[in-house]
Amino acid sequence: MKSNLTEKEENSMSAHKKHLILMGMMGTGKSTIGRHLAQYLPYPAIDLDHWIEEKQNQSIPSIFEEFGESYFRELESQAFKHFLEQSQQHILITGGGIVLRSENRKWIKENGVVFHLTADVDTLIQRLELDGNRPLLQGNKVEKIRRIWSERKSLYESIADYQIQTDARSPEVIIAEILSHWHQLPV
Ligand code: S3P
Repeated sequence: MKSNLTEKEENSMSAHKKHLILMGMMGTGKSTIGRHLAQYLPYPAIDLDHWIEEKQNQSIPSIFEEFGESYFRELESQAFKHFLEQSQQHILITGGGIVLRSENRKWIKENGVVFHLTADVDTLIQRLELDGNRPLLQGNKVEKIRRIWSERKSLYESIADYQIQTDARSPEVIIAEILSHWHQLPV
């Protein structure tokens, strides 16, 4: 039966049935924020990188080293789709490169409310300075962070519902901002 709701109202109603997706560059704090967020919302938080590592019984750097980036991207897309297809809502913590595939961007838009965690590139450089766990940052780290950010910035922005600044802000403040947006979505 056709409802009396306008198309806009029907779309906005469905927003709260979507997954809460945390997206952004390496070093924006997605995993920390996602873990804490799960204490305030009745949905499980899934860190896709950790999930892949457990499933493969292999670390991300080791997957990159043994099989290469495109193999990892395939695992990443499969893992992402696996959770998006479930009717149970999740907090999905994505790896920074999830936006590289257009099919992932399409799925994100269709199935998620997207929080783009951002930080100035100098903040990212500072936070990632001592990191040895990101295969894409091997070698000249500063140059690589700048390049990856400039390649991806517009991709992130094209699918973000909310931009969340993380520079010089505590997890508590960031979480409060995300929850305030989330709770304002139509039920
Ligand atoms: C990547 C980010 C990493 C991880 C992999 C590739 C990327 O996740 O998925 O090293 O391409 O930006 P984080 O964003 O959690 O560091």
